[in-house]
Amino acid sequence: MSNEHLHRRQFMQYMATAGILAALPRAALAQIITRQPPRSPFNSNSTAEEVTEGLDLNGLTIAITGANSGLGYETMRVLALRGAHIIGIARTQAKADAACASIAGETTPLFLDLADWDSVVRCAETIRAMHTPLDGLITNAGIMALPELERVNGVEKQFAVNHLGHFILINQLRAPVLAAPQGRFTILSSAAHRRADKGIEFDNLDGSRFYDPWTAYGVSKLANALCARELAAQISHTEATANSVHPGVIGTNLLQYLPAWQQWAAKYLGWLFLKTVEEGAATTCYVATSPELVDVRGFYFADCNVDKGDTPYMQDDAMAATLWQVSTELTRDYLPDDQDS
Ligand SMILES: NC(=O)c1ccc[n+]([C@@H]2O[C@H](COP(=O)([O-])OP(=O)(O)OC[C@H]3O[C@@H](n4cnc5c(N)ncnc54)[C@H](OP(=O)(O)O)[C@@H]3O)[C@@H](O)[C@H]2O)c1
Repeated sequence: MSNEHLHRRQFMQYMATAGILAALPRAALAQIITRQPPRSPFNSNSTAEEVTEGLDLNGLTIAITGANSGLGYETMRVLALRGAHIIGIARTQAKADAACASIAGETTPLFLDLADWDSVVRCAETIRAMHTPLDGLITNAGIMALPELERVNGVEKQFAVNHLGHFILINQLRAPVLAAPQGRFTILSSAAHRRADKGIEFDNLDGSRFYDPWTAYGVSKLANALCARELAAQISHTEATANSVHPGVIGTNLLQYLPAWQQWAAKYLGWLFLKTVEEGAATTCYVATSPELVDVRGFYFADCNVDKGDTPYMQDDAMAATLWQVSTELTRDYLPDDQDS
């Protein structure tokens, strides 16, 4: 543990003893406790193996959604290679079993469907029943640009799957993450947050006022980033951290709803302008494990470094707080009774 970290902890203990922390507004508290991360030596060409080289993750348990495909699969593979026990979560048990069986290392396959919130709760209950602290929860699963409006529990499907399903999982697993020595929530966002050019329009979460596939995806990815920001503030008095990630643009199954010519271009010309999957998983692996990021919370990362995002909404703490409140209302029946923070 660095001297800087020790000094901060001593300062925190002193402040807590003096009862000062309790009197500070939450935003001010987060400012004190959050450290501006150092510039990393990594960039858009770095791979997940490169950014974790030399790390020994033995003894850590990290759960990841979307572990059977694309970036989630590569993230799982590399973190297991470094010694972590990975809880690899897919949409079905068969997919999770196959993905976990195909990599080296210690894995536990589980399933949930982010569009079926009872299944999210069941998955979280299974993890909690392991009675092991969670050193990381990586909310990686996602869908993009559904051509037609679809709804889950009355909410537009991309918002429901990408954000609300994960919101339930995050809250259900908050206690085991906070029980770890330095638990990390790593939430997959996207540069496509810029498509939410009016921010999160809380009066259109069901898509009834208008629906555009990319705006809806952008709103869900802005929600992912703001969820990390608000969560980071809420847990700023603990050792745990929360950050969000843009992985880059990569030709994965995420493109399945794009027009055929765009999928063709990604497949055959993608090497010209897309990241590889190995590069795409790098920022997630870096944020989830780098020793440089202890005490670093509430940031959005791209290419393994902090990025301010493309719109002012990415720093909008009032919107983040409202998002948390509205998400709580929409998922109330699926949240734990006590939020142990
Ligand atoms: N690829 C990019 O260019 C890019 C850019 C920015 C951000 N991202 C973000 O990166 C993350 C990973 O995307 P990817 O590119 O790796 O895509 P991917 O290969 O399509 O993987 C998406 C994963 O999410 C799972 N998933 C989808 N719907 C689900 C549901 N209802 N319940 C549970 N799991 C579900 C998929 O399961 P199935 O295999 O069963 O469908 C799959 O495992 C996403 O959050 C995405 O928004 C990707």
